[in-house]
Order: sequence, then structure tokens, then C-alpha cells
Amino acid sequence: MIYFFKLFSAGGSMFYEPKKGHPFSIDPYKSLIFPRPIGWISTISKKGIPNLAPYSYFNAVADYPPQVMFSEEASISNNRYKDSLSNILSTKEFVVNFATSKTRKQMALSSIDAPSDVDEFKFTKLKKRKSKKVKAPSVAESPVNLECKLLKTLKLKSNSKKYGTIVIGEVIGIFIDNKFIKKGRVDSASMRYVARLGYSEYTTVTSKFKMHHPKWKNK
Ligand SMILES: Cc1cc2nc3c(=O)[nH]c(=O)nc-3n(C[C@H](O)[C@H](O)[C@H](O)COP(=O)(O)O)c2cc1C
Repeated sequence: MIYFFKLFSAGGSMFYEPKKGHPFSIDPYKSLIFPRPIGWISTISKKGIPNLAPYSYFNAVADYPPQVMFSEEASISNNRYKDSLSNILSTKEFVVNFATSKTRKQMALSSIDAPSDVDEFKFTKLKKRKSKKVKAPSVAESPVNLECKLLKTLKLKSNSKKYGTIVIGEVIGIFIDNKFIKKGRVDSASMRYVARLGYSEYTTVTSKFKMHHPKWKNK
């Protein structure tokens, strides 16, 4: 196997087929698709226990109407969805919060596999903000909260270890901290959202540049 990979990397580049393995000690897949925004998903269980967890397979997928997605990968051996998805399936709602450089450690802490009866807001010492359109609490320290209604779930192809589910939600309420609104526009870079690279690496947006989109003249 090693010989096979060496052969293909001899020309100064590399090609491999993930289903046959990879030539690294750690799978580099996630370090090739970056930065991935982190949807810090808060939910509440039917019994009223709040839950919070980060998901970097997350993004906005439409704006008319605004829709977001995140992908949950559960272990086949656990034979159950993660708490976020279990709660969403029973309550049909969730909130997307955003971790910043200030709350990055709490974001990482909230990924702990705590039992379902643990309130991860209390565990991470984060404050709750009452959401306006959904029962799930929002993270008060987050500059933005997107209150979402579940639209649909989609099963991903699974393997012997994990099975994935995509959750798509419609954003029905948007909270923005006034601090980040300057001259009628959102100053995204000043929020210092934390985003995911590969391995244990993260980044924040610290610079920006502008580009204008071309229009076909004779249209
Ligand atoms: C930065 C970061 C990103 C993560 N992204 C994902 C993801 O996209 N999908 C996923 O299934 N788990 C992801 N995890 C792991 C979950 O956060 C973790 O399994 C958590 O315990 C799930 O919590 P829950 O059971 O309360 O829903 C991520 C963890 C971290 C720290």
C-alpha cells in the first residue's frame, strides 16, 4: 500500500482514492476544505433540557427564503443520533449561534459527549438569550443568532463506522448585536467568528477585500 502511494506522489503531487485509504498518518480530508464556518447549534429536548454543540459541516444554502444546513455524523456503534438531531427531530426547531475568538474555548468544550440530561449552557458557563420564534435558547455571547424551523433531513451515504444526516432549516428569526452594525451594514470581519481548518486548527477572519460581480452587457 505504501509503495503504491509513493509511486503516485513521485512527480511532486499526489492522488489517492479515499475509499482505498490515504498515505498520511492522519486523514487530511478536512484540511483540504476550509475554512468551514461553525454552526454552534442550540436545541431543547421535549423534557426542556437545553443542548449546545458545534458543527463545522455547516453553511447557508439559500437566501430566498434563508435556509441553512448542518450535517450530523453519528457512530454506528452508538446506534443513536447525537442530542442536537434527536432534539430537532422531536421539536422541529433549532438556533444557529456563532463562536468567536472570545468564546472559542467554550465552543470546544460544548462538543463534549455529555449525557442528554446535561444542560451544556450551564456546563460551559454560557448565558442564554430567550429566542423570539423558537423554544430553544440562543447563546447570549453570540453576535448573531439564527432561529430556525426544521424543513427536512436527508440521509447521507454511510460506511461501517458512521452514518450521516443533513439537517436543513429555514431561518425564521435573526438577531444581530447592534455593536456589529456600522453605517447600516454588518461589519462581518469585526465579529471574529471562529472557523475550522483541518486537524486541531482554527482560524478567524482578520482581513477582507472587495470585488464587484460582472454583468453581461446585452442582457
Ligand atoms: C469545531 C467542531 C466541529 C464539529 N463539527 C461536527 C460536524 O460537522 N458534525 C458532527 O456530527 N459532529 C461535529 N463535531 C462533534 C460534535 O460537536 C460532538 O459530537 C458533540 O458531542 C455533539 O453534541 P450533541 O450530542 O449534544 O449534539 C464537531 C466538534 C467540534 C469541536
